[in-house]
Amino acid sequence: MATQKAFIEVLKGKRKDPVPFWFMRQAGRYLPEYRELRAKATNFLEMVYTPEMATEITLQPIRRYGMDAAILFADILVVPDALGQKVDFVEKRGPVLDAIGDAKGLARLKLDNLHQHLAPVYETIGRLTAELPEETALIGFAGAPWTVATYMVEGGGSPDQAAAKTWAYTDPKGFGALIDLLVEATSAYLVAQAEAGAEALQIFDTWAGSLPESAFSRWVIAPTAEIVRRIRVSHPQIPIIGFPRGAGPLCVDYVEKTGIDGISIDQNLPAGWAARHLQPRCAVQGNLDPRLLVVGGEAMVEETRRILKALSGGPHIFNLGHGIVPEVPPENVALLRDVIRGWRSDDG
Ligand code: CP3
Repeated sequence: MATQKAFIEVLKGKRKDPVPFWFMRQAGRYLPEYRELRAKATNFLEMVYTPEMATEITLQPIRRYGMDAAILFADILVVPDALGQKVDFVEKRGPVLDAIGDAKGLARLKLDNLHQHLAPVYETIGRLTAELPEETALIGFAGAPWTVATYMVEGGGSPDQAAAKTWAYTDPKGFGALIDLLVEATSAYLVAQAEAGAEALQIFDTWAGSLPESAFSRWVIAPTAEIVRRIRVSHPQIPIIGFPRGAGPLCVDYVEKTGIDGISIDQNLPAGWAARHLQPRCAVQGNLDPRLLVVGGEAMVEETRRILKALSGGPHIFNLGHGIVPEVPPENVALLRDVIRGWRSDDG
């Protein structure tokens, strides 16, 4: 390869000026062209498992805004789906799963059909490697075992992850068997994404912050470290980003013990703190409050410049602290892109 893509270079530890950027949930309902396809599809998973549609949806934000990275259009819940747990996405409610809460439920899940079930996702990646602009990197992803388990055990989203926590605290051995299965499936899934052409991988741990230190160590750090280890056996060079949302100061332990190349930080972590404690160890991705992208204008611009400045001393990829929400006006994304692209580290 002639020149490395800016996004990949930062994950290898370089500082880049201008700072590369992409946004979590950059494909989705805030885009009219997404909503148009969504209205035609029978359901969300049909879009994910139809390579032609998934490819198109992945490309939509890149065409509009020219982000430095495209994220594969899929969902973290395709893994339980591929293991044989029924998953539905219900309009206005979110994901609904057939909850499993014990060894009997777990026994119904099978790894055997994983790759067969996820083959359309691998095909989407193959198509994207041919269709993306040459400067745009392709990110593959999966949910981290803890976060995916919270949906599997609860049967959907929950404000407090109570069902998964209860199982983890009362029967760690039984819950550990679910986590082990997810480590196995998630590693195999991410390795297959790398084989298919993904150039970086992100592990989403949306609910990492709900666990106190020792549980965090056992259910967030240890499974993620094992997934990273397994990916590196066959793909030692592929950069891996972790997103332990809400982990606060536990991010330091997370970075050191998982061995990831980049950490995505949420908006509650001060950027200056991340510069001091995380950037010396890995690349930092973040961390604009997604609500500011809804608001736009001076408030968004000011906070964006503050973040760029705070993280300008080390490897930084600009992103949000969490995903784009559906009510974001598309023109605010264009303004944010212009601010990031126009900023230089000596701007002060
Ligand atoms: O653009 C991208 O970021 C790529 C695709 C992507 C989706 N989901 C598409 C999606 C990615 C990376 C995800 C990750 C994901 N999915 C996470 C982790 C990150 C996070 O946001 O916390 C989680 C927890 C999920 C589970 C999930 N999927 C929920 C809770 C929901 C419903 C609520 C919501 O935000 O819409 C989904 C549905 C979903 N996943 C949509 C999209 C575009 C909306 C589906 C629709 O059009 O109805």
